[in-house]
Amino acid sequence: MAEIEFKSVAKSFGKVEVIAGLDLRVDDGEFIVFVGPSGCGKSTALRMIAGLEETTAGDIRIGGRPMAGLAPSERNVAMVFQSYALYPHMTVGGNIGFPLKMAGRPAAEIARRVKEAADILDLGPYLDRRPAQLSGGQRQRVALGRAIVRHPDVFLFDEPLSNLDADLRVSMRGEIMLLRERIQATMIYVTHDQTEAMTMGDRIAVFAPLKDGHPRNLMQVGTPEALYERPANLFVARFLGSPKMNLIEMGGGEAPAFGTFPVAGTAAGPGGLLLGVRPEDIRIADAGTPGLAGRIRLVEALGAEYYVHVETAAGELIVRVMDKRRRPVPGETVVLQPAPDAVHLFDTATGLRVEA
Ligand SMILES: Nc1ncnc2c1ncn2[C@@H]1O[C@H](COP(=O)(O)OP(=O)(O)O)[C@@H](O)[C@H]1O
Ligand SMILES: [Mg+2]
Repeated sequence: MAEIEFKSVAKSFGKVEVIAGLDLRVDDGEFIVFVGPSGCGKSTALRMIAGLEETTAGDIRIGGRPMAGLAPSERNVAMVFQSYALYPHMTVGGNIGFPLKMAGRPAAEIARRVKEAADILDLGPYLDRRPAQLSGGQRQRVALGRAIVRHPDVFLFDEPLSNLDADLRVSMRGEIMLLRERIQATMIYVTHDQTEAMTMGDRIAVFAPLKDGHPRNLMQVGTPEALYERPANLFVARFLGSPKMNLIEMGGGEAPAFGTFPVAGTAAGPGGLLLGVRPEDIRIADAGTPGLAGRIRLVEALGAEYYVHVETAAGELIVRVMDKRRRPVPGETVVLQPAPDAVHLFDTATGLRVEA
Protein backbone atom coordinates (compact mmCIF):
# COMPACT_ATOMS: atom_id res chain seq x y z
CA MET A 1 0.00 0.00 0.00
CA ALA A 2 1.44 3.38 -0.94
CA GLU A 3 -1.14 6.05 -0.35
CA ILE A 4 0.42 9.46 0.22
CA GLU A 5 -0.88 11.85 2.85
CA PHE A 6 -0.02 15.49 3.40
CA LYS A 7 -1.15 16.63 6.85
CA SER A 8 -1.06 20.41 7.45
CA VAL A 9 2.21 20.61 5.52
CA ALA A 10 3.99 23.96 5.28
CA LYS A 11 7.31 24.96 3.75
CA SER A 12 9.27 28.20 3.95
CA PHE A 13 12.61 29.14 2.44
CA GLY A 14 13.96 31.59 5.01
CA LYS A 15 11.13 34.05 5.56
CA VAL A 16 9.39 33.21 2.29
CA GLU A 17 6.44 30.89 2.75
CA VAL A 18 5.92 28.69 -0.33
CA ILE A 19 3.53 25.97 0.91
CA ALA A 20 0.87 26.47 3.58
CA GLY A 21 -1.90 24.33 5.04
CA LEU A 22 -1.49 21.48 2.56
CA ASP A 23 -3.89 18.64 3.39
CA LEU A 24 -4.27 15.99 0.72
CA ARG A 25 -4.60 12.24 0.42
CA VAL A 26 -3.49 10.47 -2.76
CA ASP A 27 -4.89 6.95 -2.94
CA ASP A 28 -2.79 3.85 -3.49
CA GLY A 29 -2.38 3.32 -7.25
CA GLU A 30 -3.90 6.68 -8.12
CA PHE A 31 -2.56 8.99 -10.86
CA ILE A 32 -2.99 12.55 -9.62
CA VAL A 33 -1.84 15.71 -11.38
CA PHE A 34 -0.62 18.79 -9.48
CA VAL A 35 -1.25 21.73 -11.77
CA GLY A 36 -0.74 25.45 -11.30
CA PRO A 37 1.21 28.43 -12.61
CA SER A 38 4.98 28.63 -12.32
CA GLY A 39 6.20 29.33 -8.77
CA CYS A 40 3.17 27.94 -6.91
CA GLY A 41 5.17 25.26 -5.07
CA LYS A 42 4.51 22.14 -7.17
CA SER A 43 8.16 21.06 -7.38
CA THR A 44 8.66 21.87 -3.71
CA ALA A 45 5.74 19.59 -2.82
CA LEU A 46 7.28 16.74 -4.85
CA ARG A 47 10.75 17.32 -3.42
CA MET A 48 9.33 17.05 0.10
CA ILE A 49 7.78 13.66 -0.75
CA ALA A 50 11.08 12.48 -2.21
CA GLY A 51 13.01 13.71 0.82
CA LEU A 52 15.02 16.28 -1.15
CA GLU A 53 13.51 19.08 0.99
CA GLU A 54 12.39 18.95 4.61
CA THR A 55 8.94 20.15 5.61
CA THR A 56 8.86 23.27 7.79
CA ALA A 57 5.71 22.02 9.54
CA GLY A 58 3.26 19.15 9.26
CA ASP A 59 3.63 15.56 8.26
CA ILE A 60 4.00 13.55 5.04
CA ARG A 61 3.18 9.84 5.16
CA ILE A 62 3.61 7.14 2.53
CA GLY A 63 1.66 3.95 3.19
CA GLY A 64 0.93 5.29 6.68
CA ARG A 65 4.65 5.62 7.46
CA PRO A 66 5.82 9.12 8.57
CA MET A 67 8.62 10.31 6.29
CA ALA A 68 10.22 12.79 8.71
CA GLY A 69 13.91 12.04 9.08
CA LEU A 70 14.01 9.37 6.35
CA ALA A 71 16.66 9.77 3.65
CA PRO A 72 15.49 9.80 0.01
CA SER A 73 16.88 6.28 -0.44
CA GLU A 74 14.67 4.98 2.40
CA ARG A 75 11.38 6.16 0.86
CA ASN A 76 11.13 3.89 -2.22
CA VAL A 77 10.18 6.87 -4.36
CA ALA A 78 11.46 7.55 -7.90
CA MET A 79 11.45 10.97 -9.50
CA VAL A 80 11.54 11.83 -13.22
CA PHE A 81 12.56 15.36 -14.19
CA GLN A 82 12.31 17.64 -17.19
CA SER A 83 16.03 17.30 -17.86
CA TYR A 84 16.83 13.65 -18.43
CA ALA A 85 20.27 13.88 -16.81
CA LEU A 86 21.54 10.74 -18.57
CA TYR A 87 25.21 9.78 -18.37
CA PRO A 88 26.54 10.42 -21.90
CA HIS A 89 29.38 7.89 -21.68
CA MET A 90 27.10 5.03 -20.55
CA THR A 91 24.88 2.90 -22.78
CA VAL A 92 21.11 2.95 -22.48
CA GLY A 93 21.30 -0.27 -20.49
CA GLY A 94 23.98 1.21 -18.24
CA ASN A 95 21.90 4.30 -17.60
CA ILE A 96 18.75 2.31 -16.80
CA GLY A 97 20.61 -0.08 -14.51
CA PHE A 98 22.62 2.61 -12.76
CA PRO A 99 20.41 2.97 -9.64
CA LEU A 100 20.60 -0.81 -9.08
CA LYS A 101 24.37 -0.81 -9.55
CA MET A 102 24.65 2.00 -6.98
CA ALA A 103 22.50 -0.08 -4.62
CA GLY A 104 24.98 -2.97 -5.05
CA ARG A 105 22.55 -5.45 -6.66
CA PRO A 106 24.09 -8.54 -8.34
CA ALA A 107 24.83 -8.30 -12.07
CA ALA A 108 22.32 -11.01 -13.07
CA GLU A 109 19.49 -9.27 -11.22
CA ILE A 110 20.43 -5.92 -12.78
CA ALA A 111 20.41 -7.45 -16.28
CA ARG A 112 16.99 -9.02 -15.67
CA ARG A 113 15.42 -5.83 -14.30
CA VAL A 114 16.93 -3.66 -17.05
CA LYS A 115 15.46 -5.98 -19.67
CA GLU A 116 12.07 -5.89 -17.97
CA ALA A 117 12.08 -2.04 -17.87
CA ALA A 118 13.30 -1.85 -21.48
CA ASP A 119 10.48 -4.18 -22.59
CA ILE A 120 7.85 -2.01 -20.89
CA LEU A 121 9.24 1.05 -22.71
CA ASP A 122 10.03 -0.63 -26.06
CA LEU A 123 13.70 0.22 -25.61
CA GLY A 124 14.93 -3.36 -26.10
CA PRO A 125 16.69 -2.71 -29.43
CA TYR A 126 18.52 0.35 -28.09
CA LEU A 127 20.17 -1.02 -24.95
CA ASP A 128 23.70 -0.81 -26.39
CA ARG A 129 23.39 2.71 -27.79
CA ARG A 130 24.56 5.87 -26.09
CA PRO A 131 22.19 8.77 -25.27
CA ALA A 132 23.62 10.93 -28.08
CA GLN A 133 22.39 8.31 -30.58
CA LEU A 134 18.77 8.61 -29.38
CA SER A 135 15.91 11.01 -30.14
CA GLY A 136 14.52 13.30 -27.44
CA GLY A 137 11.55 11.01 -26.83
CA GLN A 138 13.80 7.95 -26.53
CA ARG A 139 16.02 9.78 -24.03
CA GLN A 140 13.00 10.64 -21.91
CA ARG A 141 12.00 6.95 -22.06
CA VAL A 142 15.46 6.02 -20.76
CA ALA A 143 14.90 8.44 -17.87
CA LEU A 144 11.58 6.69 -17.21
CA GLY A 145 13.36 3.33 -17.38
CA ARG A 146 15.81 4.44 -14.72
CA ALA A 147 12.79 5.08 -12.45
CA ILE A 148 10.89 1.89 -13.37
CA VAL A 149 13.89 -0.37 -12.77
CA ARG A 150 13.80 0.50 -9.07
CA HIS A 151 10.24 -0.85 -8.61
CA PRO A 152 9.26 2.19 -6.55
CA ASP A 153 6.00 2.46 -4.60
CA VAL A 154 5.66 6.06 -5.80
CA PHE A 155 6.53 7.78 -9.09
CA LEU A 156 6.96 11.55 -9.04
CA PHE A 157 7.02 13.29 -12.42
CA ASP A 158 8.17 16.92 -12.46
CA GLU A 159 7.16 18.44 -15.82
CA PRO A 160 8.87 15.56 -17.65
CA LEU A 161 7.62 16.54 -21.11
CA SER A 162 8.36 20.28 -21.09
CA ASN A 163 11.53 19.88 -23.17
CA LEU A 164 9.84 17.98 -25.98
CA ASP A 165 8.24 19.44 -29.08
CA ALA A 166 4.44 19.48 -29.35
CA ASP A 167 3.96 16.20 -31.29
CA LEU A 168 6.30 14.26 -29.08
CA ARG A 169 4.65 15.68 -25.97
CA VAL A 170 1.31 14.27 -27.04
CA SER A 171 2.72 10.83 -27.81
CA MET A 172 4.76 10.68 -24.56
CA ARG A 173 1.64 11.76 -22.67
CA GLY A 174 -0.05 8.66 -24.04
CA GLU A 175 2.94 6.47 -23.15
CA ILE A 176 2.98 7.66 -19.55
CA MET A 177 -0.75 6.97 -19.27
CA LEU A 178 -0.17 3.44 -20.62
CA LEU A 179 2.68 2.92 -18.15
CA ARG A 180 0.32 2.92 -15.23
CA GLU A 181 -1.57 0.00 -16.69
CA ARG A 182 1.63 -2.05 -16.71
CA ILE A 183 3.03 -0.83 -13.40
CA GLN A 184 1.42 -0.90 -9.99
CA ALA A 185 2.40 2.34 -8.25
CA THR A 186 1.04 5.64 -7.00
CA MET A 187 1.89 8.46 -9.40
CA ILE A 188 2.01 12.23 -8.94
CA TYR A 189 2.51 14.22 -12.11
CA VAL A 190 3.37 17.93 -11.95
CA THR A 191 2.67 20.30 -14.82
CA HIS A 192 1.76 23.94 -15.51
CA ASP A 193 -0.16 22.78 -18.60
CA GLN A 194 -3.90 22.53 -18.03
CA THR A 195 -4.35 20.27 -21.08
CA GLU A 196 -1.92 17.71 -19.64
CA ALA A 197 -3.76 17.91 -16.33
CA MET A 198 -7.20 17.46 -17.90
CA THR A 199 -6.17 14.52 -20.09
CA MET A 200 -3.91 12.58 -17.72
CA GLY A 201 -5.20 12.75 -14.17
CA ASP A 202 -7.64 10.47 -12.36
CA ARG A 203 -7.85 13.57 -10.22
CA ILE A 204 -6.37 17.04 -10.48
CA ALA A 205 -5.11 19.17 -7.58
CA VAL A 206 -5.00 22.85 -8.57
CA PHE A 207 -2.28 24.88 -6.81
CA ALA A 208 -2.10 28.68 -6.47
CA PRO A 209 0.94 30.74 -5.46
CA LEU A 210 0.87 32.06 -1.86
CA LYS A 211 2.63 35.22 -3.04
CA ASP A 212 -0.61 36.24 -4.78
CA GLY A 213 -2.34 36.43 -1.40
CA HIS A 214 -3.89 32.96 -1.20
CA PRO A 215 -3.85 31.66 2.40
CA ARG A 216 -3.12 28.12 1.17
CA ASN A 217 -2.00 26.57 -2.12
CA LEU A 218 -4.64 23.96 -2.76
CA MET A 219 -7.59 25.55 -4.56
CA GLN A 220 -9.58 22.42 -5.45
CA VAL A 221 -9.11 18.66 -5.85
CA GLY A 222 -11.30 16.40 -7.94
CA THR A 223 -11.80 14.61 -11.23
CA PRO A 224 -11.07 16.64 -14.38
CA GLU A 225 -14.79 16.64 -15.20
CA ALA A 226 -15.82 17.84 -11.73
CA LEU A 227 -13.33 20.71 -11.77
CA TYR A 228 -14.24 21.76 -15.30
CA GLU A 229 -17.99 21.59 -14.76
CA ARG A 230 -18.13 22.93 -11.20
CA PRO A 231 -15.05 25.02 -10.41
CA ALA A 232 -15.16 25.92 -6.70
CA ASN A 233 -13.62 29.35 -7.23
CA LEU A 234 -12.48 31.88 -9.83
CA PHE A 235 -8.88 30.68 -9.75
CA VAL A 236 -9.87 27.17 -10.91
CA ALA A 237 -12.48 28.56 -13.32
CA ARG A 238 -9.84 30.70 -15.03
CA PHE A 239 -7.05 28.10 -14.94
CA LEU A 240 -8.83 25.13 -16.55
CA GLY A 241 -10.21 25.40 -20.06
CA SER A 242 -8.92 26.81 -23.33
CA PRO A 243 -10.04 29.28 -24.48
CA LYS A 244 -10.75 30.55 -20.98
CA MET A 245 -14.15 30.87 -19.35
CA ASN A 246 -15.83 34.21 -20.11
CA LEU A 247 -16.52 36.27 -16.98
CA ILE A 248 -19.13 39.00 -16.93
CA GLU A 249 -19.65 41.46 -14.07
CA MET A 250 -23.16 41.51 -12.70
CA GLY A 251 -24.73 43.99 -10.37
CA GLY A 252 -27.29 42.61 -7.95
CA GLY A 253 -27.86 39.39 -9.89
CA GLU A 254 -28.57 40.73 -13.35
CA ALA A 255 -26.22 40.42 -16.30
CA PRO A 256 -26.82 42.80 -19.19
CA ALA A 257 -29.21 41.01 -21.56
CA PHE A 258 -27.97 37.59 -20.37
CA GLY A 259 -30.94 37.30 -18.05
CA THR A 260 -31.53 37.44 -14.33
CA PHE A 261 -30.13 34.85 -11.97
CA PRO A 262 -31.92 34.85 -8.63
CA VAL A 263 -29.34 34.35 -5.90
CA ALA A 264 -30.12 33.98 -2.22
CA GLY A 265 -29.54 37.42 -0.62
CA THR A 266 -26.82 36.22 1.73
CA ALA A 267 -24.87 34.46 -1.02
CA ALA A 268 -24.06 37.57 -3.03
CA GLY A 269 -21.34 39.63 -1.35
CA PRO A 270 -21.17 43.43 -1.42
CA GLY A 271 -18.85 43.33 -4.42
CA GLY A 272 -21.53 41.71 -6.57
CA LEU A 273 -21.22 38.63 -8.71
CA LEU A 274 -19.33 37.42 -11.74
CA LEU A 275 -21.16 35.28 -14.23
CA GLY A 276 -18.97 32.69 -15.92
CA VAL A 277 -19.79 30.93 -19.17
CA ARG A 278 -17.45 28.73 -21.17
CA PRO A 279 -16.89 29.51 -24.87
CA GLU A 280 -18.60 26.26 -25.94
CA ASP A 281 -21.71 27.07 -23.88
CA ILE A 282 -22.64 30.19 -25.86
CA ARG A 283 -24.68 30.03 -29.04
CA ILE A 284 -24.46 32.65 -31.77
CA ALA A 285 -27.98 33.63 -32.87
CA ASP A 286 -29.25 36.04 -35.49
CA ALA A 287 -29.51 39.76 -34.77
CA GLY A 288 -32.92 40.67 -33.39
CA THR A 289 -33.40 37.51 -31.26
CA PRO A 290 -33.27 37.76 -27.44
CA GLY A 291 -29.82 37.70 -25.85
CA LEU A 292 -26.69 39.82 -25.62
CA ALA A 293 -26.11 41.86 -28.78
CA GLY A 294 -22.59 42.18 -30.11
CA ARG A 295 -20.32 42.58 -33.08
CA ILE A 296 -17.75 40.03 -34.25
CA ARG A 297 -14.27 41.52 -33.94
CA LEU A 298 -12.05 38.56 -34.79
CA VAL A 299 -12.43 34.97 -35.97
CA GLU A 300 -9.70 32.39 -35.28
CA ALA A 301 -10.12 29.42 -37.62
CA LEU A 302 -8.60 26.25 -36.10
CA GLY A 303 -9.73 23.83 -38.77
CA ALA A 304 -12.19 21.82 -36.69
CA GLU A 305 -13.70 24.89 -35.02
CA TYR A 306 -13.73 28.67 -34.81
CA TYR A 307 -12.92 30.88 -31.81
CA VAL A 308 -15.10 33.94 -32.32
CA HIS A 309 -14.30 37.14 -30.41
CA VAL A 310 -17.43 39.24 -29.95
CA GLU A 311 -17.57 42.81 -28.62
CA THR A 312 -20.57 43.34 -26.37
CA ALA A 313 -21.80 45.80 -23.73
CA ALA A 314 -20.47 43.28 -21.17
CA GLY A 315 -16.95 43.25 -22.66
CA GLU A 316 -15.33 40.99 -25.25
CA LEU A 317 -16.53 37.39 -25.07
CA ILE A 318 -15.10 34.34 -26.82
CA VAL A 319 -17.46 31.84 -28.40
CA ARG A 320 -16.43 28.43 -29.66
CA VAL A 321 -18.27 27.52 -32.84
CA MET A 322 -18.12 23.91 -34.00
CA ASP A 323 -20.75 24.13 -36.74
CA LYS A 324 -18.63 24.70 -39.84
CA ARG A 325 -21.52 25.25 -42.18
CA ARG A 326 -21.94 28.80 -40.93
CA ARG A 327 -18.62 30.62 -40.90
CA PRO A 328 -18.77 33.71 -38.67
CA VAL A 329 -17.50 36.88 -40.34
CA PRO A 330 -15.74 39.83 -38.65
CA GLY A 331 -17.98 42.90 -38.56
CA GLU A 332 -21.16 40.82 -38.43
CA THR A 333 -23.76 41.84 -35.84
CA VAL A 334 -24.96 38.88 -33.75
CA VAL A 335 -26.72 37.94 -30.54
CA LEU A 336 -25.14 35.69 -27.92
CA GLN A 337 -27.23 33.18 -26.01
CA PRO A 338 -25.70 31.19 -23.14
CA ALA A 339 -27.01 27.72 -22.37
CA PRO A 340 -29.02 28.49 -19.21
CA ASP A 341 -27.89 25.36 -17.34
CA ALA A 342 -24.21 25.98 -18.07
CA VAL A 343 -23.59 29.30 -16.34
CA HIS A 344 -21.38 29.66 -13.26
CA LEU A 345 -21.71 32.32 -10.57
CA PHE A 346 -18.90 33.61 -8.37
CA ASP A 347 -18.79 36.11 -5.52
CA THR A 348 -16.53 38.88 -6.83
CA ALA A 349 -15.10 39.69 -3.39
CA THR A 350 -14.29 36.16 -2.18
CA GLY A 351 -13.90 34.48 -5.58
CA LEU A 352 -15.99 31.56 -4.32
CA ARG A 353 -18.62 29.75 -6.33
CA VAL A 354 -22.21 30.75 -5.52
CA GLU A 355 -25.06 28.35 -6.22
CA ALA A 356 -27.86 29.90 -8.29
N1 LIG B 1 15.85 26.24 -2.54
C1 LIG B 1 15.08 27.35 -2.60
N2 LIG B 1 15.43 28.47 -1.97
C2 LIG B 1 14.67 29.59 -2.02
N3 LIG B 1 13.49 29.67 -2.68
C3 LIG B 1 13.08 28.57 -3.33
C4 LIG B 1 13.84 27.36 -3.34
N4 LIG B 1 13.17 26.44 -4.09
C5 LIG B 1 12.04 27.06 -4.51
N5 LIG B 1 12.00 28.33 -4.07
C6 LIG B 1 10.90 29.28 -4.32
O1 LIG B 1 9.68 28.66 -3.98
C7 LIG B 1 8.66 29.02 -4.88
C8 LIG B 1 8.02 27.77 -5.44
O2 LIG B 1 8.96 27.11 -6.24
P1 LIG B 1 8.64 25.74 -6.98
O3 LIG B 1 8.20 24.72 -5.99
O4 LIG B 1 9.83 25.41 -7.80
O5 LIG B 1 7.40 26.16 -7.90
P2 LIG B 1 6.79 25.42 -9.19
O6 LIG B 1 7.40 24.08 -9.31
O7 LIG B 1 5.32 25.39 -8.93
O8 LIG B 1 7.09 26.32 -10.36
C9 LIG B 1 9.29 29.91 -5.93
O9 LIG B 1 9.01 31.25 -5.61
C10 LIG B 1 10.77 29.61 -5.80
O10 LIG B 1 11.54 30.73 -6.14
MG1 LIG C 1 8.58 23.28 -10.84
